[in-house]
Amino acid sequence: MNRYSLGLVAAGGVLVGIYAWAPWADKGNVEDQPRVNTQMHGAAAGAPAPDPDSIVVPEVLSPLAANGKILFENNCATCHGKNGAGGTGKAPPLIHPIYKPGHHPNEAFLRAAMGGVQSHHWNFGNMPPVEDITENEVTLIATYIREVQRANGIE
Ligand code: HEC
Repeated sequence: MNRYSLGLVAAGGVLVGIYAWAPWADKGNVEDQPRVNTQMHGAAAGAPAPDPDSIVVPEVLSPLAANGKILFENNCATCHGKNGAGGTGKAPPLIHPIYKPGHHPNEAFLRAAMGGVQSHHWNFGNMPPVEDITENEVTLIATYIREVQRANGIE
């Protein structure tokens, strides 16, 4: 390969990259596909959003998580879906390897709920801060999400 064709290949790569990232390009149902560096986050983090009906719902929740479930349903489920399973078209599932504790610890839940989130892993747009929620409540929500994550093998 000469320098000219190498340059063409590089330019092609850049164009594909821009297309994959471009928020305005019509790429079908890209909301299902997270944007992650799988080398950094592990291959599972690149998995598409699961079918919300495939999420395992724990039969028993700890008392704290049971409280968190109610708070989650009142404050987060319109976007993150029932059981945090996604499928609303407004926000990603939280029952996904990207959100395992090692990648997004409970502080990430606190930061998200209190300050909102600039979209960086999916194509749903930004998350606005959740109004009138306390740190205690978000901690309960995170406890709930962790129990559902564990029931789905995400730890
Ligand atoms: C209006 C819709 C909406 C609501 C309501 C909402 N979220 Fe989000 N959430 C989003 C979007 C959109 C993202 C951004 C995903 C991305 O592209 O990275 C997000 C991201 C997150 C993240 C990932 C943060 C990070 O660091 O990457 C967490 C954790 C989260 N939300 C938790 C919650 C919790 C807990 C609640 C309820 C208290 C909640 N969300 C309510 C839309 C919402």
